[in-house]
Amino acid sequence: MKYKEPSSDYRSGLDPSRLPKHVAIIMDGNGRWARQRSLERIEGHRRGVEVVEDIVAACRRADIPYLTLYAFSTENWQRPQSEVQGIMSLLAAFLAKKQEELKENGIRLRTIGETHMLPESVLMALENALEHTRSGTDMTLTLALSYGGRAEIAGAARRIAGDVAVGKVAADVIDEAFFSRYLYTHDMPDPDLMIRTSGEMRISNFLLWQLAYTELYITDTLWPDFGEDEFLEIIRDFQSRERRFGGV
Ligand code: IPE
Ligand code: IPE
Ligand code: MG
Repeated sequence: MKYKEPSSDYRSGLDPSRLPKHVAIIMDGNGRWARQRSLERIEGHRRGVEVVEDIVAACRRADIPYLTLYAFSTENWQRPQSEVQGIMSLLAAFLAKKQEELKENGIRLRTIGETHMLPESVLMALENALEHTRSGTDMTLTLALSYGGRAEIAGAARRIAGDVAVGKVAADVIDEAFFSRYLYTHDMPDPDLMIRTSGEMRISNFLLWQLAYTELYITDTLWPDFGEDEFLEIIRDFQSRERRFGGV
C-alpha cells in the first residue's frame, strides 16, 4: 500500500527548509502500557509494532530521509526468555509483512547492532527485507537490533587497532571523522533529533557517539500511545530551537 500523499495542511506549521534529516527514537513504555491494562507485556510490544508502522509512514510523508528506531538493546537479552522470544517473533512477522510496503514507498531498510545474535528465523526475514528494499532512495529506515552504543565504539576501536597493527592505517590519522567511518552509521548523518517516549531521562546506551549534538525530546507518552500528531508536534518544536553546536 502506497502511503497517502500529505494533504496541503499536513505540514502546516512545518518549515520544509528546516526539517531534521535524521530522527532517532527510543521506543519505550510498552511494558507499562500493558501493565496499566492488566495485559501481558507482549501485548504492549504488539501494539508498539503498530505504532512503528504509523511513525514510519509519518516520517516518509513529512519527507524526513532518515529514521532510526531503537527496537532491541544488547541489554534487552537479559529479559525473561519468553518476552525475548515474543519480541523476536513480532520482529520477524513485521519484516515479512512490511517489506513490500517499504519498497513501494521508496524506503530502504538497514540495521545497526550485533545482528548475528538474532535467532535464525529473524535473520532470514531480515535478509529478505534488506534485499527486497535495497533500491529504496526516498528514506532509510534503520532498526537498531541487539544494539549497544558502547559495543559499537569498542568494536570500532578494535577494528582500527587491527588495521594499525597490519600497517593499513597510521595511528596519527585517527581523528573524529576517521573514527566515525568505523561505526555502523558511517554512511548516515548524525541524528538531528532524538525522541524518547515514556518519560525516562536517559540514553540507555543508544547512539552514544552520534548523539553528541542531537536535540533531545522526552515525552511522557508511552510508545503504544504515541502517534503521528505528536510526532509532528515534536518536529515543530525542534524547528523552533536554536542549535549552536558550541558556538555563540
Ligand atoms: C520498550 O518498551 C521496548 C523494548 C525495550 C523492546 P519496554 O518493554 O522497555 O517497556 P517498559 O519500559 O517496561 O514500560
Ligand atoms: C531502551 O529501553 C531500549 C529500547 C527501547 C529498545 P529500555 O527499557 O531497555 O531501557 P531502560 O532499561 O529503561 O534504561
Ligand atoms: Mg523500558
